[in-house]
Amino acid sequence: MAKSKTIYSCQSCGAQHPKWTGQCTGCGAWNTLVEEITLSSTATPSRYQGYALGEATITPMADITLHPETRLHTGVNELDRVLGGGIVPGSVILIGGDPGIGKSTLLLQTVSYLSQHTKVIYITGEESLQQVTLRARRLGLPEENLLLLADTHVEHILKLVQQQKPHILVIDSIQTMHTDLLQSAPGGVGQVRESAAQLVNFAKQTNTALFLVGHVTKEGALAGPRVLEHMVDCVLYFEGEQDSRYRVIRAVKNRFGAVNELGIFAMTDKGLREVSNPSAIFLSRYPNPVPGSVIMASNEGNRPLLVEVQALVDQSHLGNPRRVCVGLESSRLVMLLAVLHRHAGIATYDQDVFANVVGGVRITETGADLALLLAILSSLRNRPIPHNTIIFGEVGLAGEIRPVPNGQERLREAAKHGFKIAIVPHANAPKSHLFDMTIYPVQTLQEAVEHLKNVNVTA
Ligand code: TYD
Ligand code: MG
Repeated sequence: MAKSKTIYSCQSCGAQHPKWTGQCTGCGAWNTLVEEITLSSTATPSRYQGYALGEATITPMADITLHPETRLHTGVNELDRVLGGGIVPGSVILIGGDPGIGKSTLLLQTVSYLSQHTKVIYITGEESLQQVTLRARRLGLPEENLLLLADTHVEHILKLVQQQKPHILVIDSIQTMHTDLLQSAPGGVGQVRESAAQLVNFAKQTNTALFLVGHVTKEGALAGPRVLEHMVDCVLYFEGEQDSRYRVIRAVKNRFGAVNELGIFAMTDKGLREVSNPSAIFLSRYPNPVPGSVIMASNEGNRPLLVEVQALVDQSHLGNPRRVCVGLESSRLVMLLAVLHRHAGIATYDQDVFANVVGGVRITETGADLALLLAILSSLRNRPIPHNTIIFGEVGLAGEIRPVPNGQERLREAAKHGFKIAIVPHANAPKSHLFDMTIYPVQTLQEAVEHLKNVNVTA
């Protein structure tokens, strides 16, 4: 191994220190020093060999031949979907999520299927081989060809893996890995980044597909460096609430497919199962309509999905009334309440407002604006909105209702599930009578509020 030495560099100002200190003397920030390796000018460590000077040449684009892209199917359609149609050989996929959400379960199910056709090595740094095997047997997974390794030492792992030449490698999890290049403890930012860099470099040089499991901190970022996200080709996040059965995988970065694509699963006693008709599961069907509940047609991840948005508006006894969102963006809620006051004359400054998306789904698109505002209004007035009503649309600061992408698909999904009334942006309303629904196209928030008065609960 070529000579390298470690330095400590500040993650906020970039100042370099020969020793670790609690406070950066450059910018005064606390706890920002991270161990890094510097390369001596005479030698290049092996992990950088792929990029060594003198190898690259300038080439006209026309001379570059592409190999037909052969994707490996994971046997799990919803996972293939978020990956953009399967695993691209040599790609690096980071799977993030809270502990216990099902990352290991999903990967074990996937690799045991893949191992029937390709060579796969599953490397666990968290569980013993017995624990992994116990889980696989309990789930009744095929196990004949699956290779396992319980290790956390990157150099050792790479030595063993080089001999085996697998097509797919799984590291569960990257936070448990450590490398000899740095002296700091496993789990630290420096260790995670250097271990990942070595593994990614190996994957690229040998055209091995690599899955990295990463834990998420309380703040929701991948523990360790955000730089992990820059190193990899795909970043998938596992979402869902611990007490809900449903799990959503979202692609937040994908070099080989669409981002924001969703895969939906249910956690059962036989592991993760795909959900083929997701709209049906996120709707809670009450016997009678309740105030504050609105069904919206969202278009998360380019797939139409019906979800229930709930709001509870309650008299506040605080100087600063509470605005709490689960599954929606809090800053957007505050903005929408201001629009409601200014353009519809409905004040909530003395009310606590709570908003929730049922089933642990997270809605990031603006199509939820109108549904959320009308749910708030329904709770404030204590007037239920009929079961068979679907609502979507973006609300602008001028109180205008703006169109959202894929309006027709949203309406089609709603019609498929038996919805009869729709309140939608004017520009999203179909030109001709396409669906068996009464459609109220609206241009302003005021109009939407008026329509709500006309919608009869018993309709
Ligand atoms: P796991 O995949 O170990 O989570 P992670 O790797 O993301 O930390 O998932 C563990 C959880 O899943 C645990 O709370 C139990 C639950 N589970 C089931 O409900 N059914 C099952 O068949 C399995 C394997 C796990
Ligand atoms: Mg795990």
